[in-house]
Amino acid sequence: MKIIKTVSEMISSGSPGMGFVPTMGYLHEGHLSLIRRSVSENEKTAVSIFVNPVQFAPDEDFLTYPRNLERDISLCEQAGADILFTPDADEMYPEGFQTYVDLTELTKGLCGQSRPGHFKGVCTAVAKLFNIIRPESAYFGQKDIQQLAVVRQMTADLNFGIRIVGCPTVREPDGLAMSSRNAYLSPEQRKAAVILSQSLQYAKQLHENGENDINILKNAVTKRLETEPLAKIDYVSNIEDVIAIAVFIGKTRLIDNICIGS
Ligand code: PAJ
Repeated sequence: MKIIKTVSEMISSGSPGMGFVPTMGYLHEGHLSLIRRSVSENEKTAVSIFVNPVQFAPDEDFLTYPRNLERDISLCEQAGADILFTPDADEMYPEGFQTYVDLTELTKGLCGQSRPGHFKGVCTAVAKLFNIIRPESAYFGQKDIQQLAVVRQMTADLNFGIRIVGCPTVREPDGLAMSSRNAYLSPEQRKAAVILSQSLQYAKQLHENGENDINILKNAVTKRLETEPLAKIDYVSNIEDVIAIAVFIGKTRLIDNICIGS
């Protein structure tokens, strides 16, 4: 596996038929499932690890975001990646940088509302990475369901011509969606965090038992989340038949979603 730190070297290392998995590192099984999928579907796979400062608000966790490059390098290698692109912030945003990519509609609700500017930062980084790596396919997790929708829209709107592949959420044995931010949780908070997936599973069960009213289902999720004293709801929302939630467990903001349709 080739490790590349500069944009110019990455551009000259590109090749046709490349699969691409953008990440912020501190890799877990969720990330690795995307890398393995790309490896199985493409001639070559590039992974990026870049903790993108512009998608964090000043009061968010950019500085404390977990990092472990040594471990990530060996995990990428084991998963079969061919290229690991790890630019630093100056390489991605040199002095004088002033162009951003933003969407007008899809970013209005959910995480876009709770984290103003977040998707502008995500789209700017992803658009740059798409231009630098020029992949044929790019792999994103359904765990970040709004991000997946936003990236799909941006890719279509700006004619990137890249196939965007949405991949299923990988979970811990108790149901908690894997996330680099789970590392912030104390043992007590970690136990409490299972309430996110439990409340979504409960809504799915109600739906399977005949409840079709999305508002009733969202209310049921809210009530279930409220039974956990350590959980503070940011939002319980829906995009069509997907119920999406964001919940603070202490200072850690976790997201999850479930598709209640077929
Ligand atoms: P990051 O949170 O590191 O996630 C990288 C990719 O892994 C995203 O597509 C995310 O949806 C996926 N992922 C995370 N947890 C997952 C899980 N439990 N199961 C399946 N996939 C999972 O998302 C970002 O980084 C950044 O916003 C980025 C797209 C890299 C732009 O900076």
